[in-house]
Amino acid sequence: MTTRHSGLAKWVGEMAAMCRPDNVYWCDGSKEEYQRMLDLLIRSGAATPLNPALRPECYLFRSDPSDVARVEDRTFVCSRNRDDAGPNNNWADPEEIRAAMRKSYDGCMRGRTMYVIPYSMGPIGSPISNIGVELTDSPYVVVNMYIMTRMGSRVLDQLGTDGEFVRGLHSVGAPLAPGEADRPWPCNPDLSKKYITHFPETREIWSYGSGYGGNALLGKKCHSLRIASVQARDEGWLAEHMVILKLTSPSGRVYHVAGALPSACGKTNLAMMQPSLPGWTLQTIGDDICWMKFGPDGRLYAVNAETGFFGVAPGTSMKSNPNAMLTLRRECIFTNCVLTPDNDVWWEDMTDTPPPRGIDWQGKEWTPNCGRKGAHPNARFTAPARLCPVIAPDWEDPRGVPIDIILFGGRRTTTVPLVTEARSWKHGVFLGSIMGSELTAAAFGVVGTLRRDPMAMLPFCGYNMGDYFAHWLRMGGRTSPEKLPRMYYVNWFRKSDDGRWLWPGFGENIRVLKWMVERLEGRAGAVDTPIGFVPTMDALDLTGLSIQPQDLDLLLKVDPADWNKELADIERHYDSFGNRLPAALREELAALGRRLGG
Ligand code: OXD
Ligand code: MN
Repeated sequence: MTTRHSGLAKWVGEMAAMCRPDNVYWCDGSKEEYQRMLDLLIRSGAATPLNPALRPECYLFRSDPSDVARVEDRTFVCSRNRDDAGPNNNWADPEEIRAAMRKSYDGCMRGRTMYVIPYSMGPIGSPISNIGVELTDSPYVVVNMYIMTRMGSRVLDQLGTDGEFVRGLHSVGAPLAPGEADRPWPCNPDLSKKYITHFPETREIWSYGSGYGGNALLGKKCHSLRIASVQARDEGWLAEHMVILKLTSPSGRVYHVAGALPSACGKTNLAMMQPSLPGWTLQTIGDDICWMKFGPDGRLYAVNAETGFFGVAPGTSMKSNPNAMLTLRRECIFTNCVLTPDNDVWWEDMTDTPPPRGIDWQGKEWTPNCGRKGAHPNARFTAPARLCPVIAPDWEDPRGVPIDIILFGGRRTTTVPLVTEARSWKHGVFLGSIMGSELTAAAFGVVGTLRRDPMAMLPFCGYNMGDYFAHWLRMGGRTSPEKLPRMYYVNWFRKSDDGRWLWPGFGENIRVLKWMVERLEGRAGAVDTPIGFVPTMDALDLTGLSIQPQDLDLLLKVDPADWNKELADIERHYDSFGNRLPAALREELAALGRRLGG
């Protein structure tokens, strides 16, 4: 197969001339092709088929130990002007980095096939969707893209002869000499040789050296967030790192919620939560990437850009996320999990009793007491969204779903109450801009320290975050205020002074969502605090929960002393954006200071 799109054909030709693969293969996106790729991966030793009686059509992969996660230090946004990338991105001069990367790409696909993957982020043909083409030398990427995106011939048809698309080039950076045997997980193990580079002005992505997750599945973070955030700024829409869910109240009213939580704050758990309150139904639309545009009625409509879940496996269990576990029963890809003696997968905290032994993510013999974790902490599942038992029937509606509520959240053991309602869109943008999380993994700094992660977009905003805040503020002026979603700031993670979690979380979070819905309906009580509206003590439905009054008090408390400390930290955070920080946010901060009596 080739294409009728001369611009695409020319670009593929140029990239192939640089990377010099043995073959160029155009993916048609069929199930039969997917199966052929997996057979190839089984033969090369990369994929292990799992027990068909326990996990039909599932496969396990083990990555190279040097290639286990997104590499933020090696991720660049190469706008022409350094300030346009902002303090939130690594920057390099686009022409200089292209010259350096061309050297790496020169002949990098020798001995391999270049796969051409046309894909659509969002339902094909939806006015909210956008097309990309990824060129990759990794069949692992092809099978993951098959689950995560709509790909193949139908996307080429949609692209026509001159449609626009995001150009993504990906190589694992491991050419093969004639006769040289391949490794199960080819990559360039030298971190300094890995590059995940974005050229926002020309809508291009160049990725080299890694085969893992967001480094290699270019539709996900690279296209849907870093490049799309720039497109969204230029075109007046929002490309966000958010779950999308559909809530139905006992009276049958439907509400849609978009929620931003930083990585490692239970985003997938929220997306598939089993509500503990009778009569409430929660259905999933997306767990990671939400694109929103104004519809003809002036409301914001959202689509899930993806068709699969690329979730962190460890910690996922029938207790923490039963709907995820039920999604994982068939047709999934697992990466860096434990292989059990009966050829199934396992990871830490999946079950109370671990398997007696297994093969760990590094391919070594493993027992629960051997002193090593069996699964890598960033082990992943790639699962088709259509298999999720609570996927909303209209999750692929090309019109998107109208968003009623936007929530921002983080992991804060102090200071931030369970839930706060913003006073206005502008105040909501302020709350989103100051959100942050205490670190749980050493990968990003000292565990326990606070990392501000505005709108959960710090690693994913493809331009200066000061300008990004300005864009959010402008979006609020594009429709009448009553058509905008209401905004909330949530924190499930507050602790007592003696270190106990104050809130049970998981399915009990429905109680917080219920309060939000009742606020929209004008029925729920709230106290006007310096940081926004917080539920009155009796406004949260706590039926069936045993929570001590003093714990509830602390959970909802806005302590001026804590917030005065917080102000100083927010000031520093804001200073990092220099004169790109919108004056409106400085005003919000000053207003908060005044309300705190400072
Ligand atoms: C992810 C992330 O993998 O946010 O989705 O890191
Ligand atoms: Mn994410």
